[in-house]
Amino acid sequence: MKVPIVQLELPEIVLEEVKAVLKSGMWAEGKPVRDLEQEFAGFTGAKFCRAVNNGTSALLASIYGAELKPEDEVIIPSFSFIATANCLIPFGIRPVFADIDLSTFTLSPQSIKYAISPKTKALMPVHLYGLCANMDEIQEIADENDLIVIEDACQSHGAEIHGKKAGNLGEIAAFSLYPTKNMFSGGEGGLITTNNEELYEKINRFVNHGQTEKYIHTELGFNFRMPAVAGVIARHSLSELPNNNKKRIHNAELYNELLEKIPEVKIPEVPKGYHHVYHQYTIRVPNRDLLAENLSKNEIGYGIHYKIPIHQQQVYKEIKTISLKHTEKAADEVISLPIHPLLTDEQIQFVASTIEKFYK
Ligand SMILES: Cc1ncc(COP(=O)(O)O)c(C=O)c1O
Repeated sequence: MKVPIVQLELPEIVLEEVKAVLKSGMWAEGKPVRDLEQEFAGFTGAKFCRAVNNGTSALLASIYGAELKPEDEVIIPSFSFIATANCLIPFGIRPVFADIDLSTFTLSPQSIKYAISPKTKALMPVHLYGLCANMDEIQEIADENDLIVIEDACQSHGAEIHGKKAGNLGEIAAFSLYPTKNMFSGGEGGLITTNNEELYEKINRFVNHGQTEKYIHTELGFNFRMPAVAGVIARHSLSELPNNNKKRIHNAELYNELLEKIPEVKIPEVPKGYHHVYHQYTIRVPNRDLLAENLSKNEIGYGIHYKIPIHQQQVYKEIKTISLKHTEKAADEVISLPIHPLLTDEQIQFVASTIEKFYK
């Protein structure tokens, strides 16, 4: 039985809407994108939202909005997609890596305390795999040390802590709409949310060449605008998001039931009061690479997020870090199983029984 790691589809009615936008000739931003921004702000509970052309742009604009200066330090997890660190570099800001909690794979508040210095100006937790970082404790550290919290929410559309959504937990948040994400835009796309109007206005200018009126440019900026067609598809994806997240949670619960019986497998943990939306269903296992080979042989897709943590990537090797032993252990042991909303229970049972057979 084939079990793909990702499966994408768009209903005919959305394709018709895309066609209508293309026929209209209004291809750059326009109404679909403005509507999307309002709807996504409403969804997260944040006051403001700006759509952009990908998650990397959303992070860059968020960092610009936070008004950090060259040589400032921002604490980030090393266990993330490399964009989390890369976005700091063009501003001359120094990424400082902190460790994760192994049970949740998200930034460890204890480790932040070891990494903090007088140069630290912001914390950038990543809500990894669809689970929010420990924002209560992270915000407490930020308040004590006068730091800005930027959420890298690129993987967590609809995740919550105590009923409050990702995107409404820090000062600014960046989301990605890459095709594999819980919410997508038919190619590349990104969203930024904040409750701070001044910051929102600054970000709005930055993503449109610092423009205040047509061809009047008051500060630096770039073209990070979202195409109209992406707006149409993202609005559709947002309307489907609550249902699709429910399906992902159903799939995760079925995996949990089947995999927790296998002593070698560590299933994902969800802290009390947290709403995990399973962008990835990631387990920890011994002999991970052999298991991966076995899954491939059985036509089961998988992902390894992330085999090489950021601090061990060639471009960041020079940076000295505190001990990141949980990060390094996770990098050796994690494997993500298919979790997308189009999976059937039979496919999940097949994946689980293949893993069971492998460890027997
Ligand atoms: C944690 C994290 N940050 C940032 C990004 C960057 O988003 P994009 O690929 O849309 O530029 C991603 C995307 O995979 C991500 O997973």
